[in-house]
Amino acid sequence: MELYLDTANLEEIREIAQWGVLSGVTTNPTLVAKEFAARGEKLSQEALEGHLRAICEAVGGPVSAEVTALDAEGMVEQGKRLAALHPRIVVKLPTTEEGLRACKRLSAEGIPVNMTLIFSANQALLAARAGAAYVSPFLGRVDDISWDGGELLREIVELIQVQDLPVRVIAASIRHPRHVTEAALLGADIATMPHGVFKQLLKHPLTDLGLKRFMDDWEKVKP
Ligand code: G3P
Repeated sequence: MELYLDTANLEEIREIAQWGVLSGVTTNPTLVAKEFAARGEKLSQEALEGHLRAICEAVGGPVSAEVTALDAEGMVEQGKRLAALHPRIVVKLPTTEEGLRACKRLSAEGIPVNMTLIFSANQALLAARAGAAYVSPFLGRVDDISWDGGELLREIVELIQVQDLPVRVIAASIRHPRHVTEAALLGADIATMPHGVFKQLLKHPLTDLGLKRFMDDWEKVKP
């Protein structure tokens, strides 16, 4: 399973990219808005496009950039503009009727699409039939309403395998490290997570303690 960052923050991307384990980035309008607000920068079309290009340069893999239009025509127009920014851009579309129509058109033109806001296996099936390259089920938001995000992911992964559909599954809305383990065990192709969760994947108190003990012992006898 590949590991992606779910962020629009360049520092976070550059930091994790240095680990050598980052395969891509996903963004959404909330994350972009948060990033520009945090920097006190006005979000112009030019600034947005420059920022997305910088993200593409910082990560050597696919970068999902989401449209904000709600109609298929607008989504296609925005999608083409986003795709023209960088060869690694993946156009992210909401899983709605208009989103499906736009997905079909963009995919037919060879533009990779990530269908987002997936909360059922049937939505994933529809997205795959519309030519999506990726589907993004939201684990955390399903758990939030006391349903089972893992069960949703399991169904989608199984459906795609049984039906032999050419679409990759991105486990999204990851909230904690157990979600990542669960997604990997269930056969997701990718898990996309916030910077904090990515850092938590590595942390273990026994690793820190063990390393300290090694170093203390070495200090006593080192040549
Ligand atoms: O990028 C979409 C998804 O990962 C959002 O996660 O935590 O806002 O539900 P969250």
